[in-house]
Amino acid sequence: MRRRAFLSKMAGLCVAAQHGCLNHAYAEVGPIEKSLRNRARAKGVLFGCAVSSPLLRKDAAFADAIARDADILVHEYELKRKNVEPEENVWTFEGSDQVLQFALQHDQKIRGHTLCWHVANPAWLEQSLSDETSVGGREKLLVDYIQRVVGRYGPNMHSWDVVNEPIEPEDWDFNDMRTTSPWFRALGEDYIDIAFAATKQLSGDALLMINDYSVESDANWNERRRTVTLQLLERLIRRGVPVSGFGIQGHLKPYREKFNERVFSKFLDELQSLGLKIMITEFDVTDVDGPDDPAKRDADLAAVTRSFFDVSLASDAVIGMLTWGISDRYSWLSDNPSYKRSDGTKSRVLPYDVEMKKKPMWHAIAAALDAAPVRPAHGASTP
Ligand code: GLA
Repeated sequence: MRRRAFLSKMAGLCVAAQHGCLNHAYAEVGPIEKSLRNRARAKGVLFGCAVSSPLLRKDAAFADAIARDADILVHEYELKRKNVEPEENVWTFEGSDQVLQFALQHDQKIRGHTLCWHVANPAWLEQSLSDETSVGGREKLLVDYIQRVVGRYGPNMHSWDVVNEPIEPEDWDFNDMRTTSPWFRALGEDYIDIAFAATKQLSGDALLMINDYSVESDANWNERRRTVTLQLLERLIRRGVPVSGFGIQGHLKPYREKFNERVFSKFLDELQSLGLKIMITEFDVTDVDGPDDPAKRDADLAAVTRSFFDVSLASDAVIGMLTWGISDRYSWLSDNPSYKRSDGTKSRVLPYDVEMKKKPMWHAIAAALDAAPVRPAHGASTP
């Protein structure tokens, strides 16, 4: 669909939504001028979170908090290939369109996550990639998808995670890349160049990013991942790949791996010196292995959140920070075998608790935003 037709279709959906369940007032969550969104805006930085369309439809209190606090959204799962193209050439954009519709309705930006990943691929695709005998045929399985998805959403996206999680030093293989990825197996490291070139054709001004995890903490394996990440980014830049940013997922595990401000700040400087923009794309803090007392855990997590946000916001290159969800009501960490709590209670890992009350983590983010310097470019352009 052409850009104008797409925008007008979406505008129509928004008008319809104002009379339906996607329209949420801000009233339940307090005065709008105190929102995280407005505190971040005042500093020229974006604050936002991951969402899914069923929750926006079904949970008004949750949707209200997102409408109020987020200036940028990202699809939690509805833009992953398994959901978008579950069968070959069968396309399901309903959920991802609804998230976009909510964002447009609330004047929020939106990120595209993710075009190319080793996880969340439909079974038919993995089969086709391994059956396909020609390189051109394997490349087409990547490029056709990107053209379809970026062609649909391109003009609306603030940024794309073109490739998610491309490195894996523990594979002990080629350049410490994730060599077990079906994309790497099909096309070698070139799959990254191919994905970025295809995205660039249709993405307008959107930032094109690599996104990855476990580059935040002061643990040996994090240090190795930081080194390998920088090496990959340098190779891509040297090859002329149009990478314009790096996404740091920001899944912190403070009771397992210490966060060290100096170490993280150095990494942000190194990314910036490559000329890249930085976003924190999936922030949450697991409370696994923390003390039994929830108040103590909340205080610990708020402290590490404050520290992480302070360091991030001190870097001019960091243009946005998103949490992976906004409420403990819904977090992947409560269900994940490695992170769920042994006492059977929900993990307390996000700014709002299960009752949608603000936790110390929310206040830590608010205080860090209030203390952050104003971005130098603020006023000249949007983040
Ligand atoms: C990774 C992915 C996200 C999400 C989270 C946890 O970080 O990038 O899309 O799946 O894991 O659920």
